[in-house]
Amino acid sequence: MNQHLTVVDHPLVQHKLAYMRDQKTPTNHFRQLLRETSQLLAYEVTRNLEMSTKRIQTPMQEIDAPVVAGKKMALISILRAGNGLLDGVLDLVPSARVGFVGLYRDEATLKPVKYYFKVPNKLEDRLVIAVDPMLATGNSCVAAIDMLKEAGATNIRFLCLIAAPEGVARMKQAHPDVPIVTASLDDCLNEQGYIMPGLGDAGDRMFGTK
Ligand code: URA
Repeated sequence: MNQHLTVVDHPLVQHKLAYMRDQKTPTNHFRQLLRETSQLLAYEVTRNLEMSTKRIQTPMQEIDAPVVAGKKMALISILRAGNGLLDGVLDLVPSARVGFVGLYRDEATLKPVKYYFKVPNKLEDRLVIAVDPMLATGNSCVAAIDMLKEAGATNIRFLCLIAAPEGVARMKQAHPDVPIVTASLDDCLNEQGYIMPGLGDAGDRMFGTK
């Protein structure tokens, strides 16, 4: 991918996003919409994959058919909200390996602290797609990508549902090599670090917590 930020303006993505933003949308519907949207976003984030060919025999003739090259992809969910995007991407790439990065914010330093890190082996040989619905300040995203690079990843893409300009700028400065795919570039962050207009707390919306 050559662009740093790709906003997927497909009508189905935008339609589903509008319903996810609506505070009247109940948890079960929100989760279903998120799964469907993540399938559509997965289509975009997996563009330009390296391809090779496989010799196959159709009922009519032998051909060199295009197939995705290289080791199986690694999908990395940034907990906990990343899990809402993960299933839809896995629907499209069922053979992908899956990893998890758990971070919490230290209230004294405001820095992200790692509490869980489990990723597939040989990250250096894989396309790594990190997923988290809301790119807000970018702090946890930058920290997660730092950890993935420390673990060997060199080819990383980031998939989110909504991005704030602040988070995109932070990512561009810290990880200019990581393309971002999103359904929307929203207006700004509020004083609490929530994306405006956003959809509120994505974890709460998808898991029914408050
Ligand atoms: N995380 C969320 O879930 N929502 C926001 O608006 C910002 C960060």
